Amino acid sequence: MALLEIKTAGDPVLKQICAPVEKIDKRFRNFLDDMYETMKSSDGVGIAAPQVGVLLRVCVVDVDGKNRYDMINPVITFREGSAVDNEGCLSCPNLFGDVERAEKIRVEYTNRFGKKKSLDADGLLARCIQHELDHLDGKLFIDIAKNITKGRRKNDEA
Ligand code: CO
Repeated sequence: MALLEIKTAGDPVLKQICAPVEKIDKRFRNFLDDMYETMKSSDGVGIAAPQVGVLLRVCVVDVDGKNRYDMINPVITFREGSAVDNEGCLSCPNLFGDVERAEKIRVEYTNRFGKKKSLDADGLLARCIQHELDHLDGKLFIDIAKNITKGRRKNDEA
């Protein structure tokens, strides 16, 4: 496995719409493991492919250190409620801000073995998934956050 370079805000790669993943093979699974390792080494809870310069619709999420989700071509098919909480992002070092997101979601995706999955999520997991899916459409949390502060860490980063 290898650590990948994390792109930071200002890099145009973070503003692109990502393309669907069409081929899931061993090489691609190795890339997922590199994303995971890169996320963990930066104390992140989620990472999306464009953050390491790859314009494909895939993200890796692990908010509790126990449940890792590799989400390929993820789509949110249900949203309910709204909640505001403080977020950070591996691509926006030392910036934090309050973001309103759906409180509960259902996300459908393909896993690393090509199997279709559906996941109902709430709390930090739902927030993190919404944050990562925004990355796949070229959106950063600092574009939608309120009360942005510098250098004050209140939550985990994605
Ligand atoms: Co992020």
